[in-house]
Amino acid sequence: MGFNLKNRSFLTLLDYTTEEINFLINMSAKLKADKYAGIFSKNLLNKNIALIFEKPSTRTRCAFVVASYDEGAHPEYLGKGDIQLGKKETVADTARVLGRMFDGIQFRGFSHNTVVELAKYSGVPVWNGLTDKYHPTQVLADLLTVKENFGKLKGIKFCYTGDGRNNMANSLMIGCAKMGMDFRILAPKELFPQQELVNQCKKIAKENGGKITLSSDVNSAVKDADVIYTDVWVSMGEEAEYEKRINLLKPYQVNSEMMKASGKDSTIFLHCLPAFHNRDTIVSEEMFQKYNLDAMEVTEEVFESSQSKVWDEAENRVHTIKAVMVTTLG
Ligand code: CP
Ligand code: NVA
Repeated sequence: MGFNLKNRSFLTLLDYTTEEINFLINMSAKLKADKYAGIFSKNLLNKNIALIFEKPSTRTRCAFVVASYDEGAHPEYLGKGDIQLGKKETVADTARVLGRMFDGIQFRGFSHNTVVELAKYSGVPVWNGLTDKYHPTQVLADLLTVKENFGKLKGIKFCYTGDGRNNMANSLMIGCAKMGMDFRILAPKELFPQQELVNQCKKIAKENGGKITLSSDVNSAVKDADVIYTDVWVSMGEEAEYEKRINLLKPYQVNSEMMKASGKDSTIFLHCLPAFHNRDTIVSEEMFQKYNLDAMEVTEEVFESSQSKVWDEAENRVHTIKAVMVTTLG
């Protein structure tokens, strides 16, 4: 193994090589198998883990908590309003205090710069549990799920449809480029990712035998796709954008017609969750009436179909987050 992940932060997959990402995915699969077999190696015995959350979370929070306990560590949840972070105390000061008390820090929040500052000043590994720009721990779980379904990552045709410039689109583009996949973003031009990141990912993809395509045409983007992936149309913090996004993204909803357009029965559906897939998940009844929508980014039919692997994907958050903590801290 020509690399050392110990004491490294995990802020974006751009900082990790193909070999390192592969290592983390394989380690996740091993930790998953161990847990199923009742083997708990307690790699993080007596470590203290700070979990800072500026935004709400089900999966990421629970995955960090369960992974910590499984490995013998003590997690502490520091929610919005619990600590002085960036208000009354600078991020750098909080980072230096937490770094004296905790062995590792998870951060979920708005500005990507906050997680960068925490890593710079805390002196301990910092893990990005989602910022406005990136969501790298989610991508590890997505890649593990793809590998479980197809036995490989290289060459897999992966179409992400929806908001092409959010944290998921950015991070998936990086992750799929690093793994040499055929990654397509299907979105209206207004929601294409930043050109600078696209150029960077195209270069990475080329080095790894993959490719990146941006398209607004459903049929060509999903043709032969092994994976069709979507995320919410409006990310946390962008709630003022609903009307605009619904109008822009309606043609890019994942429905049975889109799944069929891949031309393959084996195509799987993935979503990082939470998903707006039926009336109970939609933001307000008023919105339903106004836009005549029964769902947003994915229909109930696809979400509940056998092609949908979203529960495996959600479970894989625990095993992949555990792998990140164990390799950087254990
Ligand atoms: N996918 C994901 O990050 O879910 P949570 O927002 O529930 O953590
Ligand atoms: N793009 C979404 C991801 C949620 C896991 C958001 O940031 O709200």
